[in-house]
Amino acid sequence: MNGKTQMTVLMDQATQLRSMAARSRASVIAITSGKGGVGKSNIAVNLAIKLASAGKEVVLLDADLGLANADVLCNIDLPANLSHVIARKRELSDVMVKAPGGFHLIGGASGLARMADLTDHDRQRLVLALAELEQRADIILIDTGAGISPNVLSFTRAADHVLVVTTPEPTAITDAYAVIKVISRDNAERRISLLVNQTRSIGEARVVHDRISKVAKQFLGVPVLDAGHMPADEQVAMAVRRRTPFVIGAPRCAASFAVSQLAMRLEQGVGHQLDTGGFFHRMSRWFRK
Ligand SMILES: Nc1ncnc2c1ncn2[C@@H]1O[C@H](COP(=O)(O)OP(=O)(O)OP(=O)(O)O)[C@@H](O)[C@H]1O
Ligand SMILES: [Mg+2]
Repeated sequence: MNGKTQMTVLMDQATQLRSMAARSRASVIAITSGKGGVGKSNIAVNLAIKLASAGKEVVLLDADLGLANADVLCNIDLPANLSHVIARKRELSDVMVKAPGGFHLIGGASGLARMADLTDHDRQRLVLALAELEQRADIILIDTGAGISPNVLSFTRAADHVLVVTTPEPTAITDAYAVIKVISRDNAERRISLLVNQTRSIGEARVVHDRISKVAKQFLGVPVLDAGHMPADEQVAMAVRRRTPFVIGAPRCAASFAVSQLAMRLEQGVGHQLDTGGFFHRMSRWFRK
């Protein structure tokens, strides 16, 4: 695309976004991590159900491009997913399905090598499509997948709030800090919080949070909010095997209680986020990059 054409496209998109901004209302929360397998997808699915059961319109976008699995956790057969949106065969809103517990799921595109390596233009289209959803939902949750690839960063960039998940393992902590560093450099205004998963005690969770938040404050100058913790709970693995989210299959388990706490904390934080100017504000920054 030559410079002039690209500028025209960006201006059209900016105009489109400006008109959307007047009606925007959803808060966008990206759930991310440095190390893989720390519990993001389970947290995302169960949190979506909890928020939906509290009467919120919730959309969960499984943006783990390459290892998508929210549909598996919910035992849903998806007729279409993000790969169809990227291939321009479907619109984002057409691939959204009603999931157990009443939230709306946009499935990821598991196993497609091409998905793991989107062009800038594809990424931009996806994030713009998300902006349209912003008017239909109260909360958009994005399960980004692990690491600091351009795909992950384009979704954290589109969020008001980035929830970083870690476990108490030293490798997970180091990788969580690396993610916080990249996200905060990308945009120091973005709200970042940390959830410590698979903990054995509240004390252990506090030690991990204090360690990361102190270092982030000292070396990056950013606050890392405390999103709480989730204990190691065998019901999580059992729920995965049964393909029934634990807040539905085991609503009284410790992990379900932790998800309720998280939903409350995020809702409190979400209130502040509605003043940030929505997608237009965030995307106009993105286009300037
Ligand atoms: N609180 C918990 N207690 C016990 N086991 C847990 C807990 N959270 C996650 N797990 C285990 O960790 C596994 C991985 O969880 P999940 O798939 O949600 O991680 P992820 O961060 O989304 O992984 P990926 O980076 O591959 O997308 C689960 O299948 C479950 O067995
Ligand atoms: Mg996952």
